[in-house]
Amino acid sequence: MKPYKAYRNFNQVLTLNKALKKDGRHLEPSDVDLIEQGSVVFSPSKILWVGPDNEFPSEYEESSEHHYFEGKVLTPEIVDCHTHLVFGGNRAQEYSMRLNGADYQEIAKAGGGILNTMKGTQNLSPDELFNIGVKRIERINSYGVGTIEIKSGYGLTFEKEMEITKVIDKLKKHFAPKVQIINTFMAAHAVPKQFESSKAYMDQVVLPLFEELASKNLIDAVDIFHEKNYFDEHDTEALFQKAKGLGINRKSHADEFYDNKGAILACRHEALSTDHLLMTGQDGIEALAGAKTVATLLPGTGFFLGKSQAKARNFLDQGVKVAIASDYNPGSCHCDNVLLVASIAAPAYKMNVAELWASITLNAAHALGLKNQGAVATSLSPRFSLFDVEDINSITYNWGRQLSLGTI
Ligand code: NIG
Ligand code: FE
Repeated sequence: MKPYKAYRNFNQVLTLNKALKKDGRHLEPSDVDLIEQGSVVFSPSKILWVGPDNEFPSEYEESSEHHYFEGKVLTPEIVDCHTHLVFGGNRAQEYSMRLNGADYQEIAKAGGGILNTMKGTQNLSPDELFNIGVKRIERINSYGVGTIEIKSGYGLTFEKEMEITKVIDKLKKHFAPKVQIINTFMAAHAVPKQFESSKAYMDQVVLPLFEELASKNLIDAVDIFHEKNYFDEHDTEALFQKAKGLGINRKSHADEFYDNKGAILACRHEALSTDHLLMTGQDGIEALAGAKTVATLLPGTGFFLGKSQAKARNFLDQGVKVAIASDYNPGSCHCDNVLLVASIAAPAYKMNVAELWASITLNAAHALGLKNQGAVATSLSPRFSLFDVEDINSITYNWGRQLSLGTI
């Protein structure tokens, strides 16, 4: 067995090396940093060399196992940094109700929405949820996505939320290292009917369970739906304070239906990301531009709900680090393909090609705290996506076509 692998002769390697140096902000088209006829050498833990094949270093000739990829394209591994893929049942009927004029928030108030999926999820055993999760993750991986964040949040009782976090942990172990899963605890997703207030649910379920699961090392990050009729700034503050004490990364769903200053709160708590941000005002954009917190935009949700979109160009022009994710869930965006979502959204967001690719690789990895991936650059983790196309432009041009050969 040779210690290294050499993947050689790709038609193009999209490295994003310049985007990496710019921390994923203020990107120009040339920051994709393409290599024609490119090759890469790596050990199991890191990339050792990347460059044009005619400069292949002789020192790696003998020590590497060589594989050849003529006519293919290599990119940094695609990351879906926001999904809710462990759920039971579906909400197809609510989609049609919305087409016929109903509103997402009205449906939720009438007992649909997240609480509807809570019932569908509670009807399934941990094994059933695990098996559904396996199928969903395999499908997502077939699109070329190798890192997936999964949020709990459809159990909404102490027992069921614990069970779902354990199901996500089992999925994580089942798929590692080929697919890397980030386990995000989001019991603060909706307030079940039996609680008189969001605070009561936080105090009785979310905070004690968070502490228990964190002590078992099951959780990578915590998230909350910081939104009118769901959880307010006091709930978010309490959760983030607790997370800091436990050493757990913070994330939030913020400013989706109202500008509740959620992005500002997330930045103040050095959250890894704050997501949705349709209504974020100029003060929120400025806070993000000056923070490490990634702004994760979820364009599929705006399309699916028939709502407006985040002001992506304002974020990008002011130097915010922008990621795009699928938000795959049964209610507000039943689409599991982040590449499709980003390809459709980029023209509407007026993103250049470097911004588009960084949003689903480099910046999406940073939204999960994964600073050691997201570019094909020396010393980063060897996590790649492979495409059966001649050039990088063909990938996003062919909306929704299955052109990936998976992750390698
Ligand atoms: O990110 N906003 C909160 N959670 C999901 C929606 C979940 C649902 O409707 O089931 C979201 O859009
Ligand atoms: Fe979400």
